[in-house]
Amino acid sequence: MYAITGITGKVGGAVARTLFAAGQPVRAVVRDADRARSWAQRGCEVVTAKMDDATSLAAAFEGAQGVFILPPPEFDPAPGFPEARAVIDAVHAALRSARPGKVVCLSTIGAQATETNLLTQRTLMEQALRDLPMPVTFLRPGWFMENAAWDVAAARDQGLISSFLQPLDKAVPMVATADVGRVAAELLRQSWSGTRVVELEGPSRVTPLDIAAAFAEIFGHAVLTEVVGRDTWDALFRSQGMQQPLPRMRMLDGFNEGWIAFEGKQADIVKGEVDLETVLRELVSQAG
Ligand SMILES: NC(=O)c1ccc[n+]([C@@H]2O[C@H](COP(=O)([O-])OP(=O)(O)OC[C@H]3O[C@@H](n4cnc5c(N)ncnc54)[C@H](OP(=O)(O)O)[C@@H]3O)[C@@H](O)[C@H]2O)c1
Repeated sequence: MYAITGITGKVGGAVARTLFAAGQPVRAVVRDADRARSWAQRGCEVVTAKMDDATSLAAAFEGAQGVFILPPPEFDPAPGFPEARAVIDAVHAALRSARPGKVVCLSTIGAQATETNLLTQRTLMEQALRDLPMPVTFLRPGWFMENAAWDVAAARDQGLISSFLQPLDKAVPMVATADVGRVAAELLRQSWSGTRVVELEGPSRVTPLDIAAAFAEIFGHAVLTEVVGRDTWDALFRSQGMQQPLPRMRMLDGFNEGWIAFEGKQADIVKGEVDLETVLRELVSQAG
């Protein structure tokens, strides 16, 4: 049995669907059982646990041949990343106590970066889980193509999308969450020893201009993209309710300046199958 956290989200859902399709038993680890009803109806065992509660997490991981850890997203962390640290402490203690057969933990491209930024939350997770006694894989995917969900309305209604990724012709490693979940499920079923890192991107790299062009194709009208000047980010993010914009700004700097990048050799980076247009068409249809 595989215990899957984040199953009500995009990546965790794709992990569980892949395991189900292969006839593997899945235990859904959720904070709210109501949100896992569809998984229960599919025959999935459902247990409740909070990602920052070691006791409930240890019970949820007990008896699992493999565990998938999805660190909850936190886009506006307090200084020093206390939210991520609470999750890391609980996950670490729970895995030590429950001793599942193996662990796949979702991390990120650029987790090796030494500059503090939003992704430091995953750097800390990787550092903490490295001393676990069971085999651990850190899956480091590129930028999620689904981040373009924020651009659907502007592309459709104004024919103009804003880009924090710049310059507009710079190719960025991106990947569909369906590929992230599928690969995570495949990794969970492998045997390995010790700690390993697997880096993952989509079939080809994507520029902001590619995103605009794909939206134009889907909507059948011109879609342009323009950069959001870095000098406006702080005020903009604060106007949107963020308390601490700097970690997010430094993450964007990292992509734009190139210090958030894959660590391994190009030939070792796993390639996904789902292309940008497929993801954008799905996002457009979800937006209604
Ligand atoms: N966006 C990117 O470009 C990118 C790139 C690389 C890696 N990542 C990583 O991908 C992950 C996000 O994956 P996703 O897109 O699948 O996220 P998602 O669709 O937003 O789903 C988040 C999942 O986490 C659960 N969750 C959120 N907060 C929680 C909490 N406090 N306690 C327990 N569960 C909680 C949610 O459960 P509920 O249903 O209960 O809310 C949901 O199942 C993050 O770890 C992020 O660092 C993102």
